[in-house]
Amino acid sequence: MICLGIESTAHTFGVGIVDGKGKVLANVKRAFTTKKGGMVPFQVAEHHTDVCDAVVKEALEKAGIGIKDIELISFSQGPGIGQCLRVGSFMTRVLSLKLKKPLVGVNHAVAHQEIGKLLTKAKDPVLLYASGANTQVIAYEAGKYRVFGETLDQGVGNFLDSFARFAGLGFPGGPKIYELSLKGKNFIELPYTVKGMDVSFGGLLTNVKHKFNSGRYKLEDLCFSIQETVFAMLAEISERAMAHTGKKELVLGGGVACNKRLQEMCSIMCEERGAKFFVPANEFLVDNGTMIAWLGILKYKAEGAAKLKETIMRPYERADDVKVTWV
Ligand code: ATP
Ligand code: FE2
Repeated sequence: MICLGIESTAHTFGVGIVDGKGKVLANVKRAFTTKKGGMVPFQVAEHHTDVCDAVVKEALEKAGIGIKDIELISFSQGPGIGQCLRVGSFMTRVLSLKLKKPLVGVNHAVAHQEIGKLLTKAKDPVLLYASGANTQVIAYEAGKYRVFGETLDQGVGNFLDSFARFAGLGFPGGPKIYELSLKGKNFIELPYTVKGMDVSFGGLLTNVKHKFNSGRYKLEDLCFSIQETVFAMLAEISERAMAHTGKKELVLGGGVACNKRLQEMCSIMCEERGAKFFVPANEFLVDNGTMIAWLGILKYKAEGAAKLKETIMRPYERADDVKVTWV
């Protein structure tokens, strides 16, 4: 079975093509970027509308197949920005009707979990899902992917991007902060907010903005200290979830997981507690169509196709809203 999956929850329009055994035939994407300001929903949706045909075409070429070879279509149903989700949902419905192929809608956060398992061979991991909009620690328990810990305000990537924008570094800010952090030498103590298995970044953002404005700190020292602080918070809540659930594997997901320092800190934590640590390749950490296609296959095999009226977008759907029928 060959599945074409479309991701469009936020800035990325991605198309993945996967076969029934989990072989990735194509993973193509275009991401909305800006030099000034952030993401304006209608502009991002316009970007997705502009590129959608070309990305599908390129994915089919990469896979060496034609559109008629697609046997299943899958799309990210939520969570995400409504105007962006609509592009993927609309396009896949049209494709499904035109090609007369089954359609399934899948949850984006759960897709990060399943692609991590597929690519790393982790069996029953805790997922640290650290992206722009989301920061959650998720693991399977009794029929659902439960959220054991999460941010109480913004996602860690949005926090990094907000600070970067404030400091004039442009968007996306995570990679720019990483580059500068390598030159930072002095650790500046910053607010560290872990509440049980939850984290929060709002107070820290205000604090680092004040520190930046004061002119008393070097930007590279601030970037270094920001990373040390927030990644320690993420490693701590991941470890707590592992201790709580008794699980012995950690998988990373989300764009912020591309960060080498976060990977290093999580890897040390896992080593110290005798657990296994896994990171998929960067192209599957960031938003991608492949994870949507793969979860589409898992869900279709367990539940069959969705009815057209069920394929509406679900901007607020959480990982723990989804009944897991395929594990
Ligand atoms: P989601 O819809 O799952 O919330 P997203 O739309 O935020 O995802 P992703 O591609 O998963 O998209 O993540 C983007 C985020 O990853 C941005 O905030 C970006 O700054 C951050 N990022 C990318 N590379 C790095 C890096 N090397 N270090 C830190 N952050 C990074
Ligand atoms: Fe994502």
